Amino acid sequence: MTTLSDYLQQAETTSEVSSVITTIAEVGRDITALLRRGALADILGEAGNENIQGEAQKKLDVIANDMLLDALTGNNHCAGVASEELDHATPANNKGSLLVLFDPLDGSSNIDINMAVGTIFSILPYNNVGNVAADSDFLQNGDAQLAAGYLLYGASTMLALTVGNGVTMFSLDPDSGEYVLVSENIRIDKDTSEYAINSSNHRYWLAPMQQYIDELVAGDAGVRGRDFNTRWVAAMVGDVHRILCRGGIFMYPFDTKYANKAGKLRLMYEANPMSFLIEQAGGASTDAVKRIMSIEPNDIHQRVPVVLGSENEVLRVQTIHNEHNQS
Ligand code: F6P
Ligand code: MN
Repeated sequence: MTTLSDYLQQAETTSEVSSVITTIAEVGRDITALLRRGALADILGEAGNENIQGEAQKKLDVIANDMLLDALTGNNHCAGVASEELDHATPANNKGSLLVLFDPLDGSSNIDINMAVGTIFSILPYNNVGNVAADSDFLQNGDAQLAAGYLLYGASTMLALTVGNGVTMFSLDPDSGEYVLVSENIRIDKDTSEYAINSSNHRYWLAPMQQYIDELVAGDAGVRGRDFNTRWVAAMVGDVHRILCRGGIFMYPFDTKYANKAGKLRLMYEANPMSFLIEQAGGASTDAVKRIMSIEPNDIHQRVPVVLGSENEVLRVQTIHNEHNQS
């Protein structure tokens, strides 16, 4: 049996990165415990509500954010933290060499229905050691990531991790509290028959994305000549986990429904860390046209279209976009 701490001791990464990953995994254990208690832990509903005893209720995404923030700002190696839940970065130890971005509870609309949610994280180098970390220090492209991963709180809690040398998965043993290695060198098949997209947004997509999905829906009666199947967890962590386990393509494309017309997902703490995992497992991750991890960020909360997973399907999306651009 290999535990997370055994793995980190021999992994090709620094002791600082290992320490930050350990801190995040420990918080994941506490979030798991809260989720297991569910309705009994006063974590459901909207923040700002009162429970039956007249006590303030906190939504689990606020609680998870506070837990990660406390733990990471208490880690000496962490110079600053940025979260989906906070407008601006929070500086920590300015002698630390690392920055951490996270989505504390991805897929949070799943909490109240007892379905899978997750925590996504991205670890970047801090290039301004000695100074107080600010938002601008986080604006590094995805290729700068030193490590990334997610915790999936499903029927069991799993950690998927990359330090730039493949993808490794751990399962949280509920008896011992240890994260135990369950699979390494994860590879995503180049071909797939499963796709994930919220089709209710069809009319808001660009023509090339509509064409790609219409071809999949047409199945063996259309140009693809075979049937495809939809799966949608409504938590990116869940959909990406399925793709790491058995392939597939996940899309949250350019979508005129959103004010910035860039789609829904956030580059820095959703798209970049998931792209790092997907590429490390041999898959592809693009905004439909170009590699996500090459995008130079201009805002810690910027949104980006996402098309990731099995390489040949991601390439097909890209080809259709290029054909439309040329015509
Ligand atoms: O964080 C945003 C998110 O919850 C993702 O986890 C998920 O993939 C997506 O939004 C779900 O979007 P929709 O509400 O359109 O199904
Ligand atoms: Mn999210």
